[in-house]
Amino acid sequence: MSAIFPKWMNLFPTVSAIGGLLGLTGVVGGFWYYATPKFWNVGYMPVQPGPAGFNHQIHAGKLGMDCRYCHTKVEKSYEANIPNVATCNGCHAEDRITLYTTSEVHKERTNFIREAYAADASIPWRRVHKVPDYVHNFPHQAHLAAGVSCFSCHGRIDTMPVVYQSQPLSMSWCLDCHRNPEQNLVPKDQVTNLNWVEAQLAERANGAASAVAAGKTLVDALKNSPPQNCGACHY
Ligand code: HEC
Ligand code: HEC
Ligand code: HEC
Ligand code: HEC
Ligand code: HEC
Repeated sequence: MSAIFPKWMNLFPTVSAIGGLLGLTGVVGGFWYYATPKFWNVGYMPVQPGPAGFNHQIHAGKLGMDCRYCHTKVEKSYEANIPNVATCNGCHAEDRITLYTTSEVHKERTNFIREAYAADASIPWRRVHKVPDYVHNFPHQAHLAAGVSCFSCHGRIDTMPVVYQSQPLSMSWCLDCHRNPEQNLVPKDQVTNLNWVEAQLAERANGAASAVAAGKTLVDALKNSPPQNCGACHY
């Protein structure tokens, strides 16, 4: 039931009133239609192309590749990009990786990359995280520059054989953090170090003095407080 009647629904009459004034009535009406939208589907895990898809646990976990090796624009733009086939082919072209010659399974699981590359085609990855279109402003770059880690919004991606949605991406979820950022900020140079971030934030949540102090310092250093006005995220 909690997914159908989230806590922020207590605010619903107020939000509806303001929404009406702003001409968002249609959107509010649409709420009932989207009463169980996929944006709230924690656990949403679409099947990806290729016999075994793409495995973050292997690449970001075992091989230790930094997120920005593939999601190259995440610190510079609103949208985090998905890497193109050439990025994969840099390692998965024939004979580059020893496993290509020693493991039939590996070869079969990576054939779709070489086929797409040879055909100059792209791999049709299926989108996992998506906010609705009436949320016009979700800036990745601003969050990373403020020290919000991928971990806070996407979970331990480096342990996921298949990516799934770990957070609800609902309005109350955005606002909960905007009201209490001290539970979530880490030094900017650690934002992709998910293992470290998880441990640091757990210490802070448990009240460990140095971790709590670190959170306060990071909030004080923010140039702007996270916005709570409707126009920051909606038209
Ligand atoms: C070797 C390249 C590579 C690396 C390194 C990598 N990713 Fe990815 N990532 C991908 C590809 C390809 C996809 C699309 C396929 C999928 O969703 O599994 C993806 C998908 C994602 C998605 C889901 C996108 C959606 O559709 O909503 C998230 C979130 C993500 N990556 C975060 C991370 C994080 C965080 C790290 C670092 C810990 C990371 N990635 C490291 C290649 C990479
Ligand atoms: C920096 C080199 C590198 C890049 C870039 C890279 N991979 Fe890999 N990939 C590897 C290595 C090494 C392995 C074998 C790791 C192992 O099994 O221990 C592997 C394994 C795989 C496998 C087999 C996984 C399994 O379950 O056995 C798939 C599928 C794969 N990669 C897809 C991709 C895709 C898609 C991309 C581009 C988004 C990509 N890789 C980018 C190095 C890379
Ligand atoms: C403050 C929360 C937050 C943080 C921090 C964050 N993301 Fe996201 N991410 C989102 C949301 C929300 C979406 C869906 C955005 C949309 O629909 O426009 C998303 C979407 C994505 C996508 C899908 C993009 C696409 O076009 O398919 C990828 C990939 C991704 N994030 C990677 C990352 C990586 C890598 C990091 C860390 C370096 C990161 N994100 C940090 C919230 C976050
Ligand atoms: C885990 C914490 C966290 C979550 C979750 C989060 N934010 Fe933020 N957000 C921040 C912080 C911290 C800032 C302040 C950035 C700064 O000082 O520039 C911010 C700033 C912003 C800004 C202003 C950016 C700018 O240029 O000043 C927008 C817009 C925004 N967030 C939208 C969203 C939306 C939409 C969601 C939900 C889909 C969301 N945020 C979820 C922490 C978060
Ligand atoms: C930090 C970003 C952020 C701010 C600020 C914000 N919203 Fe939202 N809002 C969202 C997101 C994300 C969604 C979509 C997810 C959802 O439906 O919960 C949303 C959804 C909505 C919806 C659609 C309801 C639904 O569930 O379909 C309405 C109406 C709305 N917002 C009105 C407002 C009003 C009015 C304000 C100002 C009091 C406001 N929002 C401020 C991020 C924000």
